[in-house]
Amino acid sequence: MSIITFPKDFRFGVSTAAYQIEGAYNEDGRGMSIWDTFSRIPGKVRNGDNGDIACDSYHRIDEDIALLKELGVNTYRFSIAWPRIFPNGRGEVNQKGLDHYHTFVDKLLENGIEPLCTIYHWDLPQALQDEGGWKNRQTIEAFVEYSDLLFHEFSGKIKSWLTINEPWCVSFLGYFVGEQAPGEKNLQSALDVAHHLLLAHGKTVKRFKELGIPGEIGFAPNVTWYEPFSDRPEDIEACKRISAWFTEWFFDPVFKGSYPQILVDWFAAKGAKVNIEEGDMEFINQPIDILGINYYTGTVSRYKEGQGTFDCEHIDIGFDHTDIDFTIYPEGFYKVLMDIKNKYGDVPIYITENGATYNQDPIDGRVRDDKRIKYLKQHLTQISRALNSGVNLKGYCIWSLMDNYEWSYGYSMRFGLVHVDYQTLKRTKKDSYYWYSKLNQNYWFEV
Ligand code: FCB
Repeated sequence: MSIITFPKDFRFGVSTAAYQIEGAYNEDGRGMSIWDTFSRIPGKVRNGDNGDIACDSYHRIDEDIALLKELGVNTYRFSIAWPRIFPNGRGEVNQKGLDHYHTFVDKLLENGIEPLCTIYHWDLPQALQDEGGWKNRQTIEAFVEYSDLLFHEFSGKIKSWLTINEPWCVSFLGYFVGEQAPGEKNLQSALDVAHHLLLAHGKTVKRFKELGIPGEIGFAPNVTWYEPFSDRPEDIEACKRISAWFTEWFFDPVFKGSYPQILVDWFAAKGAKVNIEEGDMEFINQPIDILGINYYTGTVSRYKEGQGTFDCEHIDIGFDHTDIDFTIYPEGFYKVLMDIKNKYGDVPIYITENGATYNQDPIDGRVRDDKRIKYLKQHLTQISRALNSGVNLKGYCIWSLMDNYEWSYGYSMRFGLVHVDYQTLKRTKKDSYYWYSKLNQNYWFEV
């Protein structure tokens, strides 16, 4: 047995996102988002589920904050729904939307919980989508306008900001794989969207600094670790390519002001390129204060001609899987953090998402989710290892506080520390909730 310890100033938290938990989709002046539209297209989301009601968190502020309080977290990562603030994406502000988040943030602070706020977690106002959405450069300006309003409104209350959650998913899952809203399948569109998201991020960071808003700002990309199956150069190259798709494609522009050549060439061979206008890379390459990292899975991969977009195949070498079928590779977490440190230096990092799906309902009022506890312990052990290796880690947020709307999987995948009965909306704390609350008190756990 050994004890894993964390520094006393480490921030422990949990994460959620507006569309996945709030519900109240047509209340208090909220406009429609691309997820309201996408989820209504037959066949796009499992069981035709949508976020109309979700966990009903919009109406359950006190109940949810009580859950956070008892859990003992000092940080809550949540997102603001753009269509609640600007129902048409820009222009007229919806005061009721702002009031809602003021009430919520005030209560978090009264309870000693620091907000870590994501400005964009995928719910683009449909009105902007109707003008081309993220393919249209004007959406960038609308995003800066929206962020600027939030900075003024919440200055002094929210001190940690993340511009965009997982730009890889927004661009490549949304516009190339087609699995997420708006569901296009076009590589060129995905590259345009990725570039515009990066610009929206950079211009917002610049605005934040110009306004002199107190606090810290960054973005929250998702990363995956691909371990080469052998030391054959083609296996190593294949892994480099696919890793670069997640990491370098978004990190290099932000940290270095350029796109990774390995993929620029690869995409060019497929007839796609980044449309860079003068000054774009300077905007994107703004110094950031914090980096959010979302990590769930890693795998072993090797070269295979014609396989997928990157001539790369994944090999299951006997990994365990979570119920969403992600392979469990805790060491990949350590490796990817070391890789980021080596490539991009020591910007303070929050793990903004890490967690596991296990689809269990309560039995006699209890959810014995030992497998989730095991997953969390394994990943937190790697976090501790990374801390000891000098990675500048400041905090860790579990995805998620509670079971919620898992995008194209609908309500079929449960990631929460708290179980939600979607018929009654009753919340039940799982065993993992109690386990995490002990860690939040003690700053150590046993393995
Ligand atoms: C991430 C998303 C988050 C959640 C988890 C499971 O890709 O950022 O909203 O759905 O996956």
